[in-house]
Amino acid sequence: MNGEVHRTAVRPRVRRSGAPIRCISRRSGWGARRAVRFRLGAPRPAAHPGVPLTRWACRPCHCRVVDGPSAARPAGQAASDGGRAGVEPHKTVAAGRLCTEEESYREAFSRFLAGTDEKITTHSYLQGIVQSLPARRVFLDVGAADGTTTRHLAPHFERTICIEPSEPMRRTLALACPQAEVVAEPVLQARIDARPDLALFSHVLYYIPRDQWAATAQRILNWLAPGGLLLILLQNPDAACMRMVHHFTGLRFDLRELADELATLPPGVVGTIDLDLVPARYRSHNLDETVAVADFHLSIPGSSSPTRDSVEQYVEQHLRDGDGGYVLRHDQHVLRIKRPAL
Ligand SMILES: C[S@@+](CC[C@H](N)C(=O)[O-])C[C@H]1O[C@@H](n2cnc3c(N)ncnc32)[C@H](O)[C@@H]1O
Repeated sequence: MNGEVHRTAVRPRVRRSGAPIRCISRRSGWGARRAVRFRLGAPRPAAHPGVPLTRWACRPCHCRVVDGPSAARPAGQAASDGGRAGVEPHKTVAAGRLCTEEESYREAFSRFLAGTDEKITTHSYLQGIVQSLPARRVFLDVGAADGTTTRHLAPHFERTICIEPSEPMRRTLALACPQAEVVAEPVLQARIDARPDLALFSHVLYYIPRDQWAATAQRILNWLAPGGLLLILLQNPDAACMRMVHHFTGLRFDLRELADELATLPPGVVGTIDLDLVPARYRSHNLDETVAVADFHLSIPGSSSPTRDSVEQYVEQHLRDGDGGYVLRHDQHVLRIKRPAL
């Protein structure tokens, strides 16, 4: 996948009110290329991968699917120790207990990244977004973690600022992206002395109480330079990974609800709101590795903790790829929120 995909992709850019509700899907690259577009009231298309069409009918935002390669190596294959290092051997212990502030969370995050194509598809998508920005002075990465994405985007900007409350993550971030200025407070306490042209808020809302989502998004929007862009990423709640999270915790995270809330804000804060889909898939040939990655995704503050046994059973039952390994789809929703230019 590359910038070309984004230049050719249909790019809905619609005001919040009075816009025709439609959903645009595009899968491209690596041979297969097709586009699906529909509008409210139009005949329902036969296939729209991974997205239940009815969900979109009353939403104030648009949807675009960006596809890419699944080039990440299966985690179990790549690790020299067969992927078992650091994997909890006892199956009766609780899963879903990792805390973002701890080193164990950072390690689990790295393990997950090693087996997913998320960063390949997402970085390609972000590349297209960055190229389309009217200005590239300041980049803000909220919840930057180990800096895997920060490092990718920082060279396009004059200044990069990160918000990252986890100390183990900040240590890795400093190595990955030494030029970034790092703020250690959580987003709702952090102070930013700049007006970002791009703010990235990627896979952090799982850790923020639901009733603080809109206030958090609004806080970041208020930091943006006029005409700036806020990107909020979260997994598609209907993909396999979030179905698993819902199965064990009862929790469901849906950015489309946040889009609805933000659409009611006074004009001047929010310009346009669009929704994109960026696919992602974790693969492994190793059961323990896959269970450990499931454990990472189940580590959501305040949720109940299943036993590792039950998670393993779930993995065996639902995540087998039919070829001796395991696959976990964790496609992402991206809310693209533009602050009006002055
Ligand atoms: C799953 S990682 C996402 C990392 C990165 N943004 C990405 O998409 O790959 C979540 C990160 O959010 C951070 N985080 C959790 N709560 C936060 C908060 N209230 N404010 C800012 N960051 C937070 C965690 O420390 C962790 O590094």
